Amino acid sequence: MPTSSTIHEAVRERYGEIARTAQASLECCGPNACGCNNGLYAADLSDLPTSVTELSLGCGDPVSLADIRAGDVALDLGAGGGIDCFLAAKRVGPTGRVIGVDMTPEMLERARANAVKLNATNVEFRAGQIEALPVEDNTVDVILSNCVINLSPDKPRVFREMFRALKPGGRVSVSDIVTNGPMSPLVAKGLQSWSECVAGALDVKDYAEGLKTAGFVDVTVTPKDDAANGLLSKIPAGVPFSALITARKS
Ligand SMILES: C[S@@+](CC[C@H](N)C(=O)[O-])C[C@H]1O[C@@H](n2cnc3c(N)ncnc32)[C@H](O)[C@@H]1O
Repeated sequence: MPTSSTIHEAVRERYGEIARTAQASLECCGPNACGCNNGLYAADLSDLPTSVTELSLGCGDPVSLADIRAGDVALDLGAGGGIDCFLAAKRVGPTGRVIGVDMTPEMLERARANAVKLNATNVEFRAGQIEALPVEDNTVDVILSNCVINLSPDKPRVFREMFRALKPGGRVSVSDIVTNGPMSPLVAKGLQSWSECVAGALDVKDYAEGLKTAGFVDVTVTPKDDAANGLLSKIPAGVPFSALITARKS
């Protein structure tokens, strides 16, 4: 089993390379995992430059489905090139704020350059790990994340950090890769598989339990694909799929 720091390093290396070469639309995260998902956004992306959309590496659309209000402070875990931050910025408006956190320097550089290009003055990008969020306690209204938590080697810590950062009443809207039942051993091998958002995917039950253990209430997990007809039981055991996870801090 790889250690936490080996996983962080492999993930940072992979996403650093993607940020440097802007190969999101060519290489993505792998055929069954995150990436290549511009077509899945309900929001209109036409006003976003290619420098943002070519780095869309998520596995869902957590912003359109989130309860984001004008004036909110939104926090995006693993912001990448910033696509969800820029979409959220429109919804929080000039009285709100969006904070994107990422641990890969090349991604932060791309995201910050995109913020300048878009004159997105209500968006900032902070360097940090989602296991130790660089935000104050009880300061965030809504947490977003798109295909990132599966990459963390310490998910209970991420869930505790999310709970700490949220204000009471704060909401969570996360797209992530999960499994229904234990991951197939064929899939769960190797570091590349981990950094492709596959090997680190949690069983949906453990995901929901993890959030509840951290203190969250009203936890829901909904498969993204229409093909799944919203029925977890129809998804074959051990196969990774994308889901929307919502929760609330009471
Ligand atoms: C699959 S990409 C998703 C990027 C973005 N959310 C999107 O939808 O395009 C994963 C991103 O999360 C970042 N990341 C992965 N693990 C992280 C961690 N433990 N702490 C902070 N950032 C992390 C990576 O650097 C990368 O930018």
